[in-house]
Amino acid sequence: MGIKIASVGAYVPDKVLTNEDLESIVETSDEWITTRTGIRERRISEVETTSDLATKAAISALKSEIAEDVDLFITATATPDMFFPSTACLVQSNLKNKRAVAFDVSAACTGFIYALYVADSIMRTKEIERAVVIGAERFSKIIDWNDRTTCILFGDGAGAVVLEKSENECILGFDIGADGSYKDLLRVESIGSNGEYPWYLHMKGNEVFKVAVRTMAGSAKRVLEKTGISSEDIKLLVPHQANYRIIDAVSKRVGIKNDKIFINLDKYGNTSAASIPIALSEAVKSGKVGKGDLVLMVAFGGGFTWGSCVVRL
Ligand code: COA
Repeated sequence: MGIKIASVGAYVPDKVLTNEDLESIVETSDEWITTRTGIRERRISEVETTSDLATKAAISALKSEIAEDVDLFITATATPDMFFPSTACLVQSNLKNKRAVAFDVSAACTGFIYALYVADSIMRTKEIERAVVIGAERFSKIIDWNDRTTCILFGDGAGAVVLEKSENECILGFDIGADGSYKDLLRVESIGSNGEYPWYLHMKGNEVFKVAVRTMAGSAKRVLEKTGISSEDIKLLVPHQANYRIIDAVSKRVGIKNDKIFINLDKYGNTSAASIPIALSEAVKSGKVGKGDLVLMVAFGGGFTWGSCVVRL
């Protein structure tokens, strides 16, 4: 018995916010943003909530608006509509399912890999045949739009995968972890803390950059070692879409050539937990990868958290 990714899907809101648009909001330029990050535009959700985005991504992956046969919903998000019910419960209800296990996972930009890890573990031990794992974010609501060092980076969107039991093993291995001592480098204040600007994202970009490169590369190498798969055998690297320069440095350290890296951050910016499932969905739907191909996913986020996973599609 194994677990496979049976299908993928994604949804992004219609409104496009370009680098040129940002020039009229903060003192920045398209040239600065493009050369430092690779981002050209991002999507902004004006009315759709995180659970709306998540539901639409799940419908795209399920190819159905009803999901009575799903046994488990997990949503990775740092921007839930509510503290509770969880985003996963809201998605479950939208899809007319009244019985599945449903909960959210909080691991910032690594959330999707964490959620996949949890879903995979539960499916191996429990009678759960079918799971929907979603990464969904509305970061536009936790961004300080006066802060040019952060508002240029993030966007809204959602991606999802459907997991099913299978004869062959397709989720081949994980490397996953966290180090909370980095809590001050990337954070959003909430109840119980005395932040001067509750709800807004705070980041020390330079320091995050360096740890991100080191940590993502280390995690990707470890998962390849654990699974006994060489970087040459990987058909596509689907990294967390934070910054082109981070991805470039990580892929060089891991030994993956440029033409084997999936990049869509130019269109969406950093969509946090949604970035890997959106990228995976686009990679599959564009034919860049198909059945039998090995995909390496690697993420990094606030916490700090990190995670990598090798899957055979
Ligand atoms: N437009 C124009 N200038 C900007 C700017 C913007 N949007 N943001 C910052 N600057 C300025 C700074 O004020 C600074 O000016 P100074 O030299 O006069 O002080 C200069 O540009 C360089 O700033 P610095 O922060 O050193 O730039 P950088 O090369 O480190 O790039 C990031 C900044 C944010 C793009 C980069 O650090 C980064 O991507 N970090 C990782 C962030 C991330 O991915 N977070 C999520 C992880 S999951």
